[in-house]
Amino acid sequence: APDIDGAKVEAHLEELGRIAAANGGNRAHGTPGYRASLDYVKGELDAAGYNTRIQQFNSGGKPGFNLIADLPDRGDHDKVVMLGAHLDSVDIGPGINDNGSGSAGILEVALTYAASGAKGDKAIRFGWWGAEEDGLVGSKAYVTSLSAAERESITAYLNFDMIGSPNPGYFVYNDDAKGDFITEALEEGFAAEDVPSEGVSLRGRSDHAPFMAVGIPSGGTATLSLVPVMSQAQAAKWNGKAGQPFDPCYHRNCDTVENISTAALDTHTDVAAYAAWKLTGVHAAGGS
Ligand code: PHE
Ligand code: CA
Ligand code: ZN
Ligand code: ZN
Ligand code: ZN
Repeated sequence: APDIDGAKVEAHLEELGRIAAANGGNRAHGTPGYRASLDYVKGELDAAGYNTRIQQFNSGGKPGFNLIADLPDRGDHDKVVMLGAHLDSVDIGPGINDNGSGSAGILEVALTYAASGAKGDKAIRFGWWGAEEDGLVGSKAYVTSLSAAERESITAYLNFDMIGSPNPGYFVYNDDAKGDFITEALEEGFAAEDVPSEGVSLRGRSDHAPFMAVGIPSGGTATLSLVPVMSQAQAAKWNGKAGQPFDPCYHRNCDTVENISTAALDTHTDVAAYAAWKLTGVHAAGGS
């Protein structure tokens, strides 16, 4: 798999920061900042040759939107590997680590995959979810909308939520036994980056949960776990700050571009790409 250009991921994240600043300081469900975020991501994907689709749903009396992107003519579309991230923020802040980071990371994976000409045995699909912060509403709406055949065609779902924490961990989800092969691919990706990873259960607290609930194998990475602070052992292996939160700006208005470890963001994005190339079975251009 290629080395994703971290500067390009940062550029997407900075754009999401500008969008929040221009729209009342957030990108929450039901706000113009959310819609502008979606339009930005969609524009990038359309220009790269993706077939994009906006799926509308309702949450709290307001319309919400998911963005689904398929890359035509690459792999068997009855066997799909899907990467996803929630694009909405909380109301209180711009949501740059949560979850501009995952959104920007998978966007650059998508653009790199298209540009490289990578062709796998399986097709690749990307999803950006709305209203995660209202209770995984967008990802639930997507999974619910799938026919049985469409559900079965999704061979793996990989989720990326909070991949740029300033005191970062390098966690791989182990919530889903069916997703063990995904976990292994992600662990291999961290090993290729020379970064020690750690398994963690997120107890379904992000958008992989609706997929897991219908038997679609799921996995993902994150820079934090559900415990409030980094342990001594974790700080030692990751050169982090023991006893400090992974992200002190979690769900706060200081979750800006200054709240990001660009090194962690790049590493997690490279690992996402590693798994995307490996799980789709790339064997043509871009498969180095
Ligand atoms: N999904 C939760 C949120 O968006 C937090 C979370 C992210 C928990 C990543 C664990 C891992 O607020
Ligand atoms: Ca990189
Ligand atoms: Zn959140
Ligand atoms: Zn989140
Ligand atoms: Zn092959």
